[in-house]
Amino acid sequence: ESTHPLVVAIDGPAGSGKSSVSRAVARRLGYGYLDTGAAYRALAWYVRDRAIDPADTDAVITSLPAFDYSIGTDPDDPAVSVGADDVTEAIREPAVSAIVSAVARIPAVRAHLTALFRSIAAGVDRPGIVVEGRDITTVVAPEAEVRILLTASEQARMARRSAEISTQSAQTVADQLRSRDRADSQVVEFMSAADGVNTVDSTHLDFEQTIGAVIEVINTRTART
Ligand code: DC
Repeated sequence: ESTHPLVVAIDGPAGSGKSSVSRAVARRLGYGYLDTGAAYRALAWYVRDRAIDPADTDAVITSLPAFDYSIGTDPDDPAVSVGADDVTEAIREPAVSAIVSAVARIPAVRAHLTALFRSIAAGVDRPGIVVEGRDITTVVAPEAEVRILLTASEQARMARRSAEISTQSAQTVADQLRSRDRADSQVVEFMSAADGVNTVDSTHLDFEQTIGAVIEVINTRTART
């Protein structure tokens, strides 16, 4: 009999629908939800707020102990704050997106946040938690009961991003997505599934169908253990 919350680890690239799907799955199962990308973004926001050069690795590392960050695990309200500042909206701004990969590629940053993620997941007051990011199936929770790689073709991911960000041209969205994929994949490999990881390809699935496919993997996996 396990006493820890069941962990559903979901990785995937930008625009795969990972965040909205993970949140919806958590909501349906009564699980908690942890968006690890939001934590990397919160750190990027903090670095920028403190006028630290994101390329100055030592300065970023030095800022870590004072990085007082909190993230909600309620899928209905995944609020993010840094100190007294609610940064839930601010971390989605292009200025933050532009520097987040630079911060995320620092190994000490990853170690620091990984430890936080593990303690948040272990402490959630629900039967399970959906943890999503880029290295959850491989580094943060390689022992998770359920590990899923959510993929979609580049074309499908761009179309979804453009629909989300209607204020930018399709070309700008495509350029940003490609350059972020390139920067992110230098940090962690998230485009191919590690051993024992189930791939869900959402290219030809709508939102509901993708949720259904993820829940099916969870049901299959948990029935077996
Ligand atoms: O999923 P997202 O776009 O909000 O992620 C923001 C950034 O954080 C992205 O550049 C990749 C990085 N990230 C990471 O390196 N490891 C994770 N587990 C989650 C996100």
